Amino acid sequence: MQESSFLVAEKNFGDSIKKVIVIGSTGTIGEAVSIFLLNSGFSVIGIGRKVPSFDKKKGNYIHHILDLQNTELLEATLSNIVRNNEEIFCLVHCAGVGEFSNIENLSVSKIKAMLDVNLLSVVVSAKVLIPHFKKIDNGKLILIGSEAGLKGGQRGSVYSATKFGLRGFAQSIREETAKNNIFVTVINPGMVRGKFFDDKNFRPGKSIDNAIEPNDIAKLVNYLLDQESGMVFDEINVSQMKKVIDFNKS
Ligand SMILES: NC(=O)c1ccc[n+]([C@@H]2O[C@H](COP(=O)([O-])OP(=O)(O)OC[C@H]3O[C@@H](n4cnc5c(N)ncnc54)[C@H](OP(=O)(O)O)[C@@H]3O)[C@@H](O)[C@H]2O)c1
Repeated sequence: MQESSFLVAEKNFGDSIKKVIVIGSTGTIGEAVSIFLLNSGFSVIGIGRKVPSFDKKKGNYIHHILDLQNTELLEATLSNIVRNNEEIFCLVHCAGVGEFSNIENLSVSKIKAMLDVNLLSVVVSAKVLIPHFKKIDNGKLILIGSEAGLKGGQRGSVYSATKFGLRGFAQSIREETAKNNIFVTVINPGMVRGKFFDDKNFRPGKSIDNAIEPNDIAKLVNYLLDQESGMVFDEINVSQMKKVIDFNKS
């Protein structure tokens, strides 16, 4: 595909193209979101430890390599990005890690990674972006939560705790910033087919209706970005049609 064909329509902010930060743009959901937004005419500033596969092919994409567990560097990097890109009006946080085991079998480093990436990096990102959104009296904070943030379950204690925490944080920020025209939305998906399950001993069943497609989450994010009324989607719960889980038989 040619570079220019990604730019269907440019979304403008004054004379510039509107910019969106996608944290976790190297993951299954983040990559789908980034590609969809680029195709919709937004500029995307992505963050991840790796480089996304589309990096060099996309004209309006800039990538920052960053470990989200380094929260000082995250704060400094985001502050710098915001300082140099007034057109940023949205942050989509799609980064996350999940380790599923009984609590006694989870190492402290894995517990810390979940808390750092799934929750602390969201808090730090919001802390940097909210003052900018207040300044422009507009802004969208879109956070990928999980169905595990709606109901706890065995072997998911810490992952669930981070996703419940995310919702509490989002609800509070939403109230705190309502007068500033800041939209805060949490999307809580069920199982999304993709890399998340590469290192797990379970994954969604093979049938199309056993998992959500990453592009469906991307469409949802794009829809949220286009909303300009006074209505806010506080939380959106989406799930696969049929809950079928395949387990490794080792
Ligand atoms: N897949 C599902 O079934 C599902 C269901 C509900 C909710 N979710 C949530 O959706 C979000 C995205 O999941 P996904 O399916 O896209 O998972 P994924 O394919 O495994 O992607 C995870 C993303 O998180 C980033 N990440 C993880 N640790 C990081 C770190 N220390 N520093 C920087 N980036 C880090 C990865 O970047 P690098 O690899 O470049 O480090 C990658 O971009 C997560 O919050 C997840 O909890 C997923």
